[in-house]
Amino acid sequence: MFRRAAIKPALPTVVLKEFRGYASGYSTEHREPSGPIVKTEIPGPKSKALLKDMDAIQQCGSVQLFTDFEKSAGNYIADADGNVLLDTYTQISSVPLGYNHPQLLTAFNNDSDIRALVNRPALGVFPAVDWPAKLRDVLLSVAPSGLDQVMTMMCGSCSNENAFKAAFIRYAINKRGGLTTFTEEEMKSVLENKPPGAPNLSVMSFKAPLLQGAFHGRTFGSLATTRSKAIHKLDFPSFDWPAAWFPHYRYPLEEFKRENEQEDKKCLEYVSELFQTWEKKSPIAAVIIEPIQSEGGDNHASPEFFQELQKICANNGAALIMDEVQTGCGPTGKMWCYEHFDLPSPPDMVTFSKKMMTGGFYSKTLYKPPQPFRIFNTWMGDPSKLIMLDRVLKVIKTDKLLDLVQESGRILKCGLHDLECEFPNMINSVRGRGTFLSFDVSTVALRDKIIGTLKKNGVLGGTCGESAIRLRPALIFAPKHAEIYLDILRKTLLELKQGASC
Ligand SMILES: Cc1ncc(COP(=O)(O)O)c(C=O)c1O
Repeated sequence: MFRRAAIKPALPTVVLKEFRGYASGYSTEHREPSGPIVKTEIPGPKSKALLKDMDAIQQCGSVQLFTDFEKSAGNYIADADGNVLLDTYTQISSVPLGYNHPQLLTAFNNDSDIRALVNRPALGVFPAVDWPAKLRDVLLSVAPSGLDQVMTMMCGSCSNENAFKAAFIRYAINKRGGLTTFTEEEMKSVLENKPPGAPNLSVMSFKAPLLQGAFHGRTFGSLATTRSKAIHKLDFPSFDWPAAWFPHYRYPLEEFKRENEQEDKKCLEYVSELFQTWEKKSPIAAVIIEPIQSEGGDNHASPEFFQELQKICANNGAALIMDEVQTGCGPTGKMWCYEHFDLPSPPDMVTFSKKMMTGGFYSKTLYKPPQPFRIFNTWMGDPSKLIMLDRVLKVIKTDKLLDLVQESGRILKCGLHDLECEFPNMINSVRGRGTFLSFDVSTVALRDKIIGTLKKNGVLGGTCGESAIRLRPALIFAPKHAEIYLDILRKTLLELKQGASC
């Protein structure tokens, strides 16, 4: 589907700062190859043999290749067959500093950190003596301003799931007029999964007209708010919860300003309408939204849309949960993507995982449950992940990786715009922030061919939505990697264009 005409938009004339290398002295040169090395088809014979082995014991139809972590370095992923690919997908956007970063390889080089790795505590009951300091020094050091509470979790899905629980707890307290105690009837009915103990409350999420919608995870609560691919949800009982429309913009944005403002207005009116219609059936306690709908196809909405959405949530007493599982930790050029939206106050909760190494969520104090054991499980995260996150955050700062993301992102975006002008029948709708970029391909079949040919030419790419290709490189992706990517993408498009005309 074409969202954007292939006209190169006027990009702001920003003078690029020259990339002078990583300030810490880290160098990709002596670790990375100078470019991709492709020796076999991918998956090659060794990956295929491993796949056969694994297939005997589990469904592994999603496996693309087997990673050789010993040989992977920086922005390059090596596979079992000795292929080394420029990685623009990074384990589904979850590798902040590339492969085998020296700061991470040495993260457990002292006894106390090894003890944290070996002795995994039940964090909600027996945390280590240094845990409060670790939470403060590491996680709270990058907390969205105004959010002074943090809970660690195991993954993105359970981070969202538990943020929902925090929102329901607060909503119920408000409904009881501030009371934090329960009635006899509530205590009894809840064990039967019935109201009033298990109340009819809901979480609103976003579907997208003609496109795929929100992705918030795969555990039952988070899955109820996921609205991307049917295959993720089929056969599972789910909550009947409201879905609002995520804006569907016309591009180029500069040309369709009025139409897109109307689109925002229409979508926001529907959000307000849903609050009213669901009030009797299952009141909406929270709204969850991705700053960029990622798995759904990198669908974007304007800062004004998010500002208005925040007002509507506040007026209806619902928590606004920003799902930064994929966008968080720098890939858009800011630590948190919502910072691009100029919100007058922070969202009520921000969930994270992937590049943050640990799952979890930040929240306002208001969302702290009054009783223990309500947001809880055995591990509740893993202290060793905070040791790694500490290193990651220090490298982001020392090597000014957020600046690098903006710089490499600009080169990538300019190059992609050039390519959409050169190949208007093949790719279109270049969009994104920082290196969190994507473009649509004219058909799903062609998209899959591009991904396959990119791999053959040495680039590992990711897909999303109906027919998009997304870029999710590590934060150490430098201008030289952007140039390599653009050269290989151009070669790939030429090959496929020539192949089609033969
Ligand atoms: C925006 C978003 N939320 C939640 C999740 C779920 O995270 P996990 O796969 O760690 O459960 C994902 C995963 O891709 C995601 O992109």
